[in-house]
Amino acid sequence: MASHAAMTGLGPVGAPSSIGVLGGTGALGRGLALRWAMAGLDVRLGSREQARAEETAGQVRHRLQDRPGIGEVTGATNRAVAASEQALVLAVPIAGLDGILADLEDLLAGRVLICAVNPLGFDDAGPFHAPVGTRSVAESVAEAAPGASVVAAFHTVSSRELAAVGRPMDDDVPVVGDDPAGCELVAHLANRIEGCRGVLAGPLRLAVGLEALTAVLIGINRQASAHVGVRFSRLPPAPGPPPDG
Ligand SMILES: NC(=O)c1ccc[n+]([C@@H]2O[C@H](COP(=O)([O-])OP(=O)(O)OC[C@H]3O[C@@H](n4cnc5c(N)ncnc54)[C@H](OP(=O)(O)O)[C@@H]3O)[C@@H](O)[C@H]2O)c1
Repeated sequence: MASHAAMTGLGPVGAPSSIGVLGGTGALGRGLALRWAMAGLDVRLGSREQARAEETAGQVRHRLQDRPGIGEVTGATNRAVAASEQALVLAVPIAGLDGILADLEDLLAGRVLICAVNPLGFDDAGPFHAPVGTRSVAESVAEAAPGASVVAAFHTVSSRELAAVGRPMDDDVPVVGDDPAGCELVAHLANRIEGCRGVLAGPLRLAVGLEALTAVLIGINRQASAHVGVRFSRLPPAPGPPPDG
């Protein structure tokens, strides 16, 4: 069988069989854990508190207990998760970002760091994009973690829909980053979620568009009493894997 591993500045990156979620005790982390475990991936949920991570992992396992082929779901401290997993989702609120990046600084080199953080504000008129400074959150993460492959994705995927495990998702997942192999890996992770399609969209400088889009989706949700996601029309099917041999 030919290897589909792509080469990156970080070294070979193949399809992962496991993933870590930093801040994995929250709504997004739990939802992603459910869906990836359903796809047979092992998921390691991180928290600032070991006990909270273990408790959340137990709840995820409990929800999936009657399903076949479930990946292993475990909990640990954010540091233990970052030390052991090659691909890590940053699923913390923006207020916690600087702290977690500082805490994990020595562990992030060589990791694919998936930033799903939405800088949002809310006022009487509803949600709005509330950037900190002039760059996207994901670009700030890349500056704070220079040895990591930072990829921005999953901003527009609803944790509520992820948690509704009885029905497939119906979402495109735009993926942006400056490391092609890291982006391929994240698109693959999106494709592992039933009903999601990873869509490569270009360099990390486009992350600002993804981070701003969520305010629009929440605005639509409020108008339409819905939980919308995004779908891109007229996108040709992705090319298949290279032939064996
Ligand atoms: N919810 C969604 O539908 C959704 C969808 C797409 C993207 N996002 C983005 O994904 C991120 C997580 O969203 P969420 O709704 O899951 O958030 P959340 O539930 O509010 O928080 C997630 C976890 O982050 C940890 N955390 C909270 N404050 C922290 C701090 N100051 N420092 C370090 N860790 C802290 C907590 O874990 P411990 O206390 O266990 O450490 C918490 O369980 C956000 O940036 C959001 O914009 C959310």
